[in-house]
Amino acid sequence: MSGVNEIRSTFIDYFVREGHEAVSSSPLVPRNDPTLMFTNAGMVQFKNVFTGVEKRPYSTAVSAQKCVRAGGKHNDLDNVGYTARHHTFFEMLGNFSFGDYFKDRAIELAWNLITREFELPKDRLLVTVYSEDDEAHALWKKIAGLSDDRIIRIPTSDNFWAMGDTGPCGPCSEIFFDHGPHIPGGPPGSEDQDGDRFIEIWNLVFMQYEQLPGGERVRLPRPSIDTGMGLERISALLQGTHDNYETDLMRAIIAEVAELTGVSANGPQKASHRVIADHLRASVFLTADGVLPSNEGRGYVLRRIMRRAMRHAQLLGARDPLMHRLVPILVREMGRAYPEIARAEPLAQETLLLEERRFRRTLERGLGILEEESAGLVSGASFPGDVAFKLYDTYGFPLDLTEDALRGRGIKVDLSAFNAAMERQRADARAAWQGSGEAATDTVWFALKEREGATEFLGYDTESAEGVVCALVKDGAEVEALKAGEQGLVILNQTPFYGESGGQVGDTGLMVGEDVRATVLSTQKKLGDLFVHEVQVAEGTLARGTALALEVDHARRSAVRANHSATHLLHEALRRVLGDHVAQKGSLVAPDRLRFDFSHPKPMTDNELAEVEEIVNAYVLRNEPVETRLMAVDDAITSGARALFGEKYGDEVRVVTMGTDAGNGASFSVELCGGTHVKRTGDIGLVSVVGESAVASGVRRVEALTATQARHYLNGANATLQAAAATLKAPVGEVDTRIAALVEERRKLERELSDARRKLAMGGGGDSGPAIIEVAGTRYLRILMEGADPKDLKSIVDQGKTKIGSGVVAVANVAADGKGALVVGVTGDLAGRFDAQMLVRVGVEALGGKGGGGRPDMAQGGGPDGGKADEALAAIEAALAG
Ligand code: ALA
Repeated sequence: MSGVNEIRSTFIDYFVREGHEAVSSSPLVPRNDPTLMFTNAGMVQFKNVFTGVEKRPYSTAVSAQKCVRAGGKHNDLDNVGYTARHHTFFEMLGNFSFGDYFKDRAIELAWNLITREFELPKDRLLVTVYSEDDEAHALWKKIAGLSDDRIIRIPTSDNFWAMGDTGPCGPCSEIFFDHGPHIPGGPPGSEDQDGDRFIEIWNLVFMQYEQLPGGERVRLPRPSIDTGMGLERISALLQGTHDNYETDLMRAIIAEVAELTGVSANGPQKASHRVIADHLRASVFLTADGVLPSNEGRGYVLRRIMRRAMRHAQLLGARDPLMHRLVPILVREMGRAYPEIARAEPLAQETLLLEERRFRRTLERGLGILEEESAGLVSGASFPGDVAFKLYDTYGFPLDLTEDALRGRGIKVDLSAFNAAMERQRADARAAWQGSGEAATDTVWFALKEREGATEFLGYDTESAEGVVCALVKDGAEVEALKAGEQGLVILNQTPFYGESGGQVGDTGLMVGEDVRATVLSTQKKLGDLFVHEVQVAEGTLARGTALALEVDHARRSAVRANHSATHLLHEALRRVLGDHVAQKGSLVAPDRLRFDFSHPKPMTDNELAEVEEIVNAYVLRNEPVETRLMAVDDAITSGARALFGEKYGDEVRVVTMGTDAGNGASFSVELCGGTHVKRTGDIGLVSVVGESAVASGVRRVEALTATQARHYLNGANATLQAAAATLKAPVGEVDTRIAALVEERRKLERELSDARRKLAMGGGGDSGPAIIEVAGTRYLRILMEGADPKDLKSIVDQGKTKIGSGVVAVANVAADGKGALVVGVTGDLAGRFDAQMLVRVGVEALGGKGGGGRPDMAQGGGPDGGKADEALAAIEAALAG
């Protein structure tokens, strides 16, 4: 039989011919299961189809599923390299029936495939069934013609398959291949069953139950089928070996390791070659599915896998980082079946190189210590736990790496001492923190962070996922449950909800479980990586342990994404237009708007703003990919990534790049950023700058809108313009000149009006007519006006003075708002006899006001009762009369 790639296709094609839907592998990070660390079987993506929660347009399917078994229920990490068949990463071939066929057809299909397509000799095959499963026993007899001694009943959990602690499960039947008596090992169920003679090649699970949290097991709506055949095993068998590492695919990778290190693949260091080949696959596939090495959760499992391989690279004498150099051979072997690894090739190479460089800094010294401390130990002895902890804490040696290093010599790590050292360190951290004066209300977060660890954030890759409630907080204290109508804070084991940070607002959305429904009002981050969801429970009760479907408000997140990516383009465009002094001083990325604060000493001109907007939109239109990589902070900054001054970054940072600079082909924008971004710049749609203002001295703020918001804003502006044009009865293009002309015309008219009023006031015919009267020998000119421009009153008084030559002039004006104003003038010759200030005061009193100001020859004042202007003029007359 042919190579691994052909065997995979043969399996898929066979089931497609038998009416099955070919379904692609789902990602290694399960989207639909909160309890599972990695996809560990072909059925994981169909979990909800088995339980009836999810419907698909087909009832039978076939897949080749990428799986990782490291961390969690199915964990094979420790054995990898030392056995013929353990892997962290492997492919599972499987056929599935969702209430379609059951045991008989499943057995028939399996038997025909292995005996007819794969042409395995019948006399080398035997099967196991769950001890109580008489039906399966009878079917094997009937369909395959196997004799009773080749159908072995197994009473243990080996023949009852469960995905994890919860989920679909059922009795199973396994098919074994007998490599012959020359290989040591006994049949399944016997004492020496773990030998290499009888190898399990296919597991047929008769899915009948769902295991619920709390131990209860319920029947599935319809009996179903889930099968799993390890591609590596069947390939080995078909290629005439019982060793998975002897298949063409593994041999190609191992040959590359041997070539690059110069160490024979079949000598005493065989295990190291195998560890490297296996872990390379896990590392690259996990990286391609969005997992990056870290100190928590999935990222830590990946780090452990990578570092274990890196130690073995070092054992093979590789002086320089090796792992990243193996990525191309893997892509060559598997990139056709899994295009995602071809796409992620640069990312995988960079991530491995970074991790290996970092680890190598401490690896030698750590190994030195390990050597020294274990020098006197003999097989069976135990290695001090505190030293293992020091290797872990200071030298970055995951515990299993230390165990692996000692394993060959039969030495075990003192685990209780290791755990005690870990606990001591936590206690010290707690004490240090309690003395640091953080707000007492944060105590609860510290305790929860310690108990639950960091929340795994899934939101870079998905906006819907499942999660389990780890803790609930209300009024600053932990509570057991939140009931309908209550608001509180929720911590989950993992979440797609982005916690507010880096200027980007937190996500909102929904959490839905069985009989419970809550709205997520906001999401915050506490102590760096504890995600806190503020929720309002709408229905049912949210309790610890509740499993929830988590749904981010997609439309809102899309808008936020566009705004965040636009902020990066804006940042770089500002720098290009204004100069290198432009540094980010803050930002807000909300669903409906964005703002960006930056250092710049003066207001931006309209031209500068237009130029910035032009550049940003040019990059939007070019629709280039937005890429995120994980880098060491120092490397990122040296490579030119823009970082926020004063911001605290972890050792490793996400670096977001977008756009290609037309000038030099380098990336246009490169920033350290933990936010969420669009996939391509075109997703931003449109960017419209709507404001520029000062925030503080030397700091400017640009506000902008994107996509739909920008369109609404521009449409709104256009509607206003159209309305103005309609009112003006002018074409849109002439609105500005027409308005300017109108404003000019109005100014002219106002001038004319005020001239006319003045003339009218002087020339008679005013409201009460300008009346010059003699009061006790003094000429008194009194003028009553309505709606005159207050600025004109003094000049009217002056004109009045000229007109009468000698005397007193008083002008009272009733403004549009009903208030009264009064100006009084006294001609020079009467100085000393009359004081304009005194006369104004008299008049102002009549207007209901008080005081007045000015000089003896000209004074003014006013009061609220404009209606009494006439009385004010009369009061002045009375004062002149003495
Ligand atoms: N889900 C079954 C297994 O993983 C087929 O073995």
